[in-house]
Amino acid sequence: MKDFDPAKSFGSDVAADYDDHKRGDEESAASFLAEFAKDGTALEFAIGTGRIAVPLTAKGVRVDGIELSPHMVEILRAKPEGRNITVILGDMSSATTDRQYPLVYLVYNTIFNLLTADDQIHCFENAARHLTKDGVFVVETALPHAWISPDKPDYVHAEYVGKEAVGLDVARYDPVTQLLEENHIEFTSQGISMSPIVCRLITPGEMDLMARIAGMRLIQRFANWERSAFDINSKMHVSVYGY
Ligand SMILES: C[S@@+](CC[C@H](N)C(=O)[O-])C[C@H]1O[C@@H](n2cnc3c(N)ncnc32)[C@H](O)[C@@H]1O
Repeated sequence: MKDFDPAKSFGSDVAADYDDHKRGDEESAASFLAEFAKDGTALEFAIGTGRIAVPLTAKGVRVDGIELSPHMVEILRAKPEGRNITVILGDMSSATTDRQYPLVYLVYNTIFNLLTADDQIHCFENAARHLTKDGVFVVETALPHAWISPDKPDYVHAEYVGKEAVGLDVARYDPVTQLLEENHIEFTSQGISMSPIVCRLITPGEMDLMARIAGMRLIQRFANWERSAFDINSKMHVSVYGY
């Protein structure tokens, strides 16, 4: 997408509305993650507004974060729980908190926000650097085929159709670069607004190889936070990597 700047895709408008559209998996994700935070600490890559970090903090885990968007961090810091969460502003493929944790995690498809294979590998390497010897890196994403199919690489999806507003996702996938370019377009009586995003889709198998490059290996893979078996019907995965 010409002139797309990933650093600007979570600007003040997106950040202001972000918590209005929760996914509903927050409690189950926090319960899953809390079991790995053995000494009571964890690091979230791309912590955002603390959608997962806040419920994880409520379970007694001290969460640190790395986050690119100052606007998302501003929303987190305005929350009472946000005051106990230390966030480093920076890129999760390189920024550091200079600490090690039993748990580093990256959820909600956000490894896809890194737009080259190199940056995605660097992200695995950066996670490995932040892990204690027996620590784990937990990654959660959709499966690419749940979003796009080879015979239908372009799509328009009606996200909501209301009397006063219509929201459409308009997308195109390039199988060569593995980049999915999407623009969420909202039509209201006040006008039209656009929220572009570009993602680099990778399969669980590619992630396993990236983990191996970073010196880790796959330990467990589930179909969801409830630990259902990962199988041919799965639409997403929760993968646990370690040494
Ligand atoms: C879908 S949101 C997820 C936020 C949070 N983890 C959650 O589950 O709600 C994606 C977040 O990733 C952040 N982000 C995107 N690229 C990043 C990067 N390279 N380094 C750090 N954060 C990044 C965005 O600013 C945004 O806050």
